[in-house]
Amino acid sequence: MRSICVMGTGYVGLVTGACLSDFGNAVTCVDIDAQRIARLKAGEVPIYEPGLEEMMTRNIGRGRLSFSTEIPFAIKASQLIFIAVGTPSMPDGDVDMSYVFEAARTIGRYMEDYKIIVNKSTVPVGTGVQVAELIRQTQPGVDFDIVSNPEFLREGSAIDDFMHPDRLVIGAGNQRSLEAVVDVYRPLYQNDIPMVLTDVESAEMIKYAANALLATKISFINEIANICEAYGADVTAVARGMGLDQRIGPRNLSAGAGYGGSCFPKDVAGLAAIARKGQVDSPLIQSINPSNGHQRRRMIAKLRELVGPFSGRTICLLGLSFKPDTDDLREAPALEMIETLQAEGATVRAYDPASMEKAQQLYPNLVCCESPYRAAEGADALVLMTEWNEFRNIDLAVLHSALKAPRMLDCRNLYHPRQMQEMGFEYLSVGRPPRRPGQETPEKTSDWLLGGYMLRR
Ligand code: UDX
Repeated sequence: MRSICVMGTGYVGLVTGACLSDFGNAVTCVDIDAQRIARLKAGEVPIYEPGLEEMMTRNIGRGRLSFSTEIPFAIKASQLIFIAVGTPSMPDGDVDMSYVFEAARTIGRYMEDYKIIVNKSTVPVGTGVQVAELIRQTQPGVDFDIVSNPEFLREGSAIDDFMHPDRLVIGAGNQRSLEAVVDVYRPLYQNDIPMVLTDVESAEMIKYAANALLATKISFINEIANICEAYGADVTAVARGMGLDQRIGPRNLSAGAGYGGSCFPKDVAGLAAIARKGQVDSPLIQSINPSNGHQRRRMIAKLRELVGPFSGRTICLLGLSFKPDTDDLREAPALEMIETLQAEGATVRAYDPASMEKAQQLYPNLVCCESPYRAAEGADALVLMTEWNEFRNIDLAVLHSALKAPRMLDCRNLYHPRQMQEMGFEYLSVGRPPRRPGQETPEKTSDWLLGGYMLRR
């Protein structure tokens, strides 16, 4: 059995550790956070991720997955060491590399024979060379290789993304280490998963470039949505018409409240900082995050358009997490919305299927409710922030009667404008014409096309 050490038990580390043990490797996950390791040893899974707990339990039971704070021992005993520690943003957007560099020094301090060090953390291009230099300085006598193997998993579908990725990217400086890491992924390439085998620098760059383009697609369609609003076009039809062009592709073209989460905002800021540091002009890349910030503020302005000044108002938010199927609130557009509303004297009532506990800790004055209907009670307007599935089939008539005034800002284009108008809602969405009860609106094609669904998918 191949022995592997995974350093860091965050999202990427835990999923990597669990999946690599499922491939039949002996995996030890280590972390400097002793409390986290203690919780993991007690069987507690610190993140909400479908399928992860079962996979971990199965592999712990088979003796292939373990957790430890004895980092020196785990390093000595492993042939491959995966670095999956955090690379947070610094205030200027630059990437904080201290955890990666500390992991490198630790590996150098304790390794006694040849190791392959595989970096899974999202790191700026050039990190492989820096990590190699650090290890060489700490441990000049021992041979090692550095491999870059960026991870593309999404929260909420992390196990599936790891097991069925669109591609595997492996960057190495020599054949020996390249082949060793390709071999770790044998179960995947036996399933015909395409592999991009390249040098370390290109592999590092692929991750940033891919995330920046995905974020750009979202910001692009958000800006198109805003232009649609000015001219009465429907962004869902526009996105579908664009996405069917195979050079564009349909995914990541849903206009909304802007992207959030632990990756896009941070990685886009990171790439912008990498370009600036390298004295490379990159006007497009520099403008992706500002465009996203603009979209978030635009949602707040739309709400103002709907209810007037926020002071003394009660606003209901449905969905708080940065996307469905996760309790993650990091960089969620809902946060700026809550902060602005509360700062301007509004009461915010909220419902989210998974993240209310976390939200309550962040905002003690947030009124967390047990159901969407409860959250709507007495509110001057409802804002749909996150497209959880359970909101798709919500009873709109019950919501309508619970609200003090039937106003809705749908930041995810979940409902059909004409239907909302007919139900008596004053309804604003993103990149589609507003609808108000009693208002004579020119009939749009999307009004009579099957509730918009034919347009959407
Ligand atoms: C992302 C990348 O997809 C993944 O490859 C990388 O490894 C980590 O970052 P994740 O942050 O989990 O994954 O979320 P993702 O599903 O990509 O969504 C990111 C944000 O974009 C969410 O806030 C989502 O609401 C928003 N989004 C996504 C849109 O606004 N419109 C879209 O069409 C798609």
